[in-house]
Amino acid sequence: MSSEIDIKFLRKLPPVLRDNLDKNLCTCNEVTKREIILAIIDGATTVDDIKKQTYATMGTGCCILQVERLIECLTAPTSKRFSRK
Ligand code: FES
Repeated sequence: MSSEIDIKFLRKLPPVLRDNLDKNLCTCNEVTKREIILAIIDGATTVDDIKKQTYATMGTGCCILQVERLIECLTAPTSKRFSRK
């Protein structure tokens, strides 16, 4: 799996979540934000999926809310613009 994240996925994140991609989001198991984002891009849609693919959230669970937020942002349908005819 490539470690590069396509810009179209990063644009789905609020600016504050686009920073520090190579810092550990899950400090208990030393899993970076980049690894979690790549797991979501690769099809993970739940915290359990992330757990299985990366081992994030398997420590004290203190990163679960952050992982849920990334899933929510990255799996949300892109907004559609409505045009009037
Ligand atoms: S920081 Fe991820 S389980 Fe504690």
